[in-house]
Amino acid sequence: MNDMTTFDVEKIRRDFPIFEEKIHGKRLTFLDSGASAQKPQVVLDAVKSAYAETYANVHRGVHYLSQKSTELYEGARETVRAHLNAESLDEVIFTKNTTEAINLVAQSYGLMALKPGDEIILSYLEHHSNIVPWQLIAERMGATVKAVPINQDGEFLMEEFEKLLSEKTKIVAVTHVSNAIGTIVPVKEIIAKAHDKGVPVLIDGSQAVPHMQVDVQDLDADFYVFTGHKLFAPTGIGVLYGKNKWLEQMPPYQGGGDMINRVTFEKTTYATGHSKFEAGTPPIVQAIGLGTAINYVNEIGFDKIGAHEQSLLAYATEEIRKLNNVRIIGDAPHKAAIVSFTMDGIHPHDIGTIIDQAGVAVRVGHHCAQPLMDFYDVPSTVRASFAMYNNRDDVDALVDAMQMVQRFFA
Ligand code: ALA
Repeated sequence: MNDMTTFDVEKIRRDFPIFEEKIHGKRLTFLDSGASAQKPQVVLDAVKSAYAETYANVHRGVHYLSQKSTELYEGARETVRAHLNAESLDEVIFTKNTTEAINLVAQSYGLMALKPGDEIILSYLEHHSNIVPWQLIAERMGATVKAVPINQDGEFLMEEFEKLLSEKTKIVAVTHVSNAIGTIVPVKEIIAKAHDKGVPVLIDGSQAVPHMQVDVQDLDADFYVFTGHKLFAPTGIGVLYGKNKWLEQMPPYQGGGDMINRVTFEKTTYATGHSKFEAGTPPIVQAIGLGTAINYVNEIGFDKIGAHEQSLLAYATEEIRKLNNVRIIGDAPHKAAIVSFTMDGIHPHDIGTIIDQAGVAVRVGHHCAQPLMDFYDVPSTVRASFAMYNNRDDVDALVDAMQMVQRFFA
């Protein structure tokens, strides 16, 4: 565990057992945390203990283990609530991941609020998981999806957003940080402008929560969603924060155990609060792991994590810019530590495969953001995504590996 007054990246690296592994006999340079982050020992220990020492189903047993397990699971909900500064526990719903959280809101809020002719506003920066769920419900309800354009630097165009907002708009759903190019979107301003027209806003915080402190009340977000596995927690756990005023009105998304008040064949009444949206046995151990991961990052502190990552981003950008025939995609003044690039005449898949031999892990492809790739007129990019455990050696290893690619194709 870290108990730090100053940021010590080497100490953090020692908390992550994966960094002891050799990849093709080389030091691991892990620059794919945007896809999924590595796990610290405390999270691995919490998962093991939850299965080995306190495991039973939650909310169902009077016996000791069920009560203990329930206490830990609900304790994780309180950790998430406090971390996001949500007003109440009922506003924190555990889901499988971000995708499920967005589908929940799209299907449930959409079913309640959308009529033919209504509009849903997204942006060009969205991941497919914040596009396709809206298309599905729009098609069902006769609504239309609109997208706010960006400029060449990858910035959200606020004036275009204001032009799109109208009395037809029923929800705005935008990302907080672009997964593909790193742009930090001014979501507080977007929310304020949407609220001026009475429109609720969903923020996809998947790529934001590993890098910055989020306060849902300060943002005034109606819905804020994220996934645990990018925040150093296990897979299979996500969070939907929703304001009570919406959740109370919204119909259930899935039916099953734990989300009911009373069931008869004639009529079923539903549980209230978060329970209404958590049908079936939940991801108990994954939620406990998420609570542990959140406590871990908070001990380090997002002020220090943010400063460290921004300095890495600046260094990586500067070093990559020194290389010939490399194009950085997305150059917004406010970016999280994500660098997307292409190399003239070399396919991103070839780059990814060659640099893997040097132990450098990056994501190559369209990053589940095809409309954004279309905007930049590229089929795919190479994406280096940084986390708090990366250091300057990782940047140097990436740049050396890119030079190796250039020599190979010369
Ligand atoms: N959404 C994840 C990414 O951007 C998988 O890589």
